[in-house]
Amino acid sequence: MNGTLLEAADGAVADGDAPFEAWMDSRCARVEQALRACLPAATTAPGRLHEAMAYATLGGGKRVRPLLAYGAGELVGAPRAAVDAVACAVELIHAYSLVHDDLPCMDDDVLRRGRPTVHVAYGEATAMLVGDALQALAFQALAGAARSIDDPARIGTMVERLAHAAGSLGMAGGQAIDLESVGAMLTRPELERMHRMKTGAMLRASVMLGVLCGPPSSPAGLESLERYAASIGLAFQVVDDVLDVASDTATLGKTAGKDSEQNKPTYVSVLGLEGARRHAAELLGTAHAALEGFGPAARRLRELADLIVARTT
Ligand code: IPE
Ligand code: IPE
Ligand code: MG
Ligand code: MG
Ligand code: MG
Repeated sequence: MNGTLLEAADGAVADGDAPFEAWMDSRCARVEQALRACLPAATTAPGRLHEAMAYATLGGGKRVRPLLAYGAGELVGAPRAAVDAVACAVELIHAYSLVHDDLPCMDDDVLRRGRPTVHVAYGEATAMLVGDALQALAFQALAGAARSIDDPARIGTMVERLAHAAGSLGMAGGQAIDLESVGAMLTRPELERMHRMKTGAMLRASVMLGVLCGPPSSPAGLESLERYAASIGLAFQVVDDVLDVASDTATLGKTAGKDSEQNKPTYVSVLGLEGARRHAAELLGTAHAALEGFGPAARRLRELADLIVARTT
């Protein structure tokens, strides 16, 4: 952090000049605090469920979806408390999706964020309920945005947007296609559709919900931000496919090599490792081009796009 920080009207620190690392640390701390505040205490019954919900949510993960919400919200000058609510909501849906993704009936994974998966630590029934409860909590957290956005129609749009991204036309639907596709050879458009749904939809919603926290944007501005969000959303899963092959379990904190072991079609199986890397780079180019009209205010979204493609975990 530098010495030029300013207190904004809502008490937030204006740190637009801060290095990216410092900005990320500060926003990660913010969402961590918001998540802690909305999770029921483990001392509240049913204690085991609440403990498992906290285990699934806190103290790990890159927090990419909340960071995208903050980057987008700050671009449009949104009230910070509303963006906190959105950041919390998208991370809760994500945490739930990981718990279910790891279940024996899905990817059957034992390691997540460097620790035993929720069903390994707490049992399958609890893991299923953790997912159910985190999804409900996400919508409860999102409803908190109404305290700083005095516009019921906009709140309605936000709820609709999150539900669409998480549901059968978004993440859950993409996961269904993923399971149906085991052992199948997908065409490139089919693969793209699956990835846009299972992962892209929630990243895209993270950006657009951040945008929706601010004053109305022009149709052209919204269209550019949608294009940015769709590109980095897809790029995120392309890179996830690459890392499954190119990285190792200790670095990833989840079991490497699972996709080929389980015979899943991925960008690597369809395009090859170099082809997948090239495609991620192309999507990054599209994301940057979409932000061209925004100037320095879109700095964090640019940095996040670079991170999504260059990341090693
Ligand atoms: C992993 O997501 C699952 C995918 C959608 C590819 P992340 O890579 O964002 O996982 P965490 O939150 O950092 O653990
Ligand atoms: C998961 O995709 C996407 C979700 C909706 C959770 P993956 O199955 O590839 O995610 P990882 O590799 O287990 O994190
Ligand atoms: Mg999966
Ligand atoms: Mg998985
Ligand atoms: Mg994966």
